[in-house]
Amino acid sequence: MSPAAASGPSRVRGPSTTTPAPAGLAARQAALAALTRVEEDGAWSNLAVPEAVADLRDPRDRAFAAHLAYETLRWEGTLDAALALVLSRPLAAVEPALRRVLRLGALQLLVSDVPARAAVDTSVQLARRSVPRGRSAGAGGFVNGVLRALDRRDGDLAWPDRGDDPVAHLALSTAHPSWVVEDLLERYGTTRTAAILAADDVAPGVTLRANADRDALLEELTAAGIDARPGALPVSIRAPGADPRTLAAVAEGRAVVQDEASMRVALATGASEGDRVLDLCAGPGGKTTHLAHLVGEKGQVTAVELHPHRARAIAEAAERQGVRVAVEEGDGRAPPVPDDARFEVVLLDAPCTGLGTGRRRPEVRWRRTPEDAAALARLQEQLLRAAARHVAPGGQLTYAVCTWTTAETTHVVDRFAPEAAAAGLTCTATTQLLPDADDTDGMFIATWQAV
Ligand SMILES: C[S@@+](CC[C@H](N)C(=O)[O-])C[C@H]1O[C@@H](n2cnc3c(N)ncnc32)[C@H](O)[C@@H]1O
Repeated sequence: MSPAAASGPSRVRGPSTTTPAPAGLAARQAALAALTRVEEDGAWSNLAVPEAVADLRDPRDRAFAAHLAYETLRWEGTLDAALALVLSRPLAAVEPALRRVLRLGALQLLVSDVPARAAVDTSVQLARRSVPRGRSAGAGGFVNGVLRALDRRDGDLAWPDRGDDPVAHLALSTAHPSWVVEDLLERYGTTRTAAILAADDVAPGVTLRANADRDALLEELTAAGIDARPGALPVSIRAPGADPRTLAAVAEGRAVVQDEASMRVALATGASEGDRVLDLCAGPGGKTTHLAHLVGEKGQVTAVELHPHRARAIAEAAERQGVRVAVEEGDGRAPPVPDDARFEVVLLDAPCTGLGTGRRRPEVRWRRTPEDAAALARLQEQLLRAAARHVAPGGQLTYAVCTWTTAETTHVVDRFAPEAAAAGLTCTATTQLLPDADDTDGMFIATWQAV
């Protein structure tokens, strides 16, 4: 991380959360357990972290453990670059359990302002417990040496200069892979890209979709002591500190945990009372159920989903929310509906890299590659072609992906253009929602009207 930055902070700083007071080993152990689940099982942190910290009795311990886990996942690339400066072998050659301990320790030293002694001593203890007994002394000594060396280097860690190397500067200072930075730079230029990436590092609070009277739900939440206020949409509520697992309204299907970007997808379809809807990639049903509410009892919603467990989740969500949805397990490229079936509303909320959801599950940025984006774009195009065949005259086709890569957004629309024209579909809007300007997840939405 050289040379010293002219325009950035002089050392790693996590901008997204205030640092809770350090607790003891138990909080760090819980954070490490979450990191292990994310890395070893491929779990998503927005599920794995709340589970891993749930057994900590003190809420300050829970907050500290969650902070450590989320921020270690977010800052992975930058922490790895810092660790590489003091390791005598590649970080990839360090066994995974100790690599996680090193990242967690580095996070505390470089981002969280935990006193160095507490960060190093607890990391040594975690390292000793992470390996078989006969190797515990060696593991502890290794982690101790690396983290002490890193602490001594802390003063001279700096970002590359933004003017000299904007990609490396933004990648390291905002904790994103270079390919993501480069792709955004092409679309938005340096200033906007920096704002998008910075906003992607700020964990948002909980957002709810109200299925019935929003004001009544706001009153109910407020009466329960929850800080809840109207969101940007008529159906949305911002309840930043709420724990959705404890909300009766969520359990009873009167509210759904959903980002405003997802609500805007359902609204962008133009679905209205009595419409027939085909939702081609529907699991777990967040948008399907919203559409079912919009079309009401006179409408019909057919939800197609490839994976059986996600298809079941749609049916459960519909039942909980009291709406009717016909769930069909199948491949959206050859949807299990009659060839001649036509729908006023066709939604393709396609599988994608999901980079737009990085505020809540920061590891997504390190899990995805440009090759993933290219492969998914091919699948998205196939799905879009299948979706187009089922739009009724006068109906609308909507394509959505919770990402911002060029490959999966504007390129998909461009490549679909000749077929859209042949099918009598006119592109009416393309919108890229982004966390800086829209305060939502990153979401791309394109719509076509059928003649
Ligand atoms: C972005 S998610 C959809 C989210 C959903 N619309 C919601 O709002 O809850 C994409 C979904 O497509 C499903 N999927 C992936 N490939 C598919 C295919 N070929 N056909 C149908 N569904 C597919 C995935 O299992 C996943 O549930």
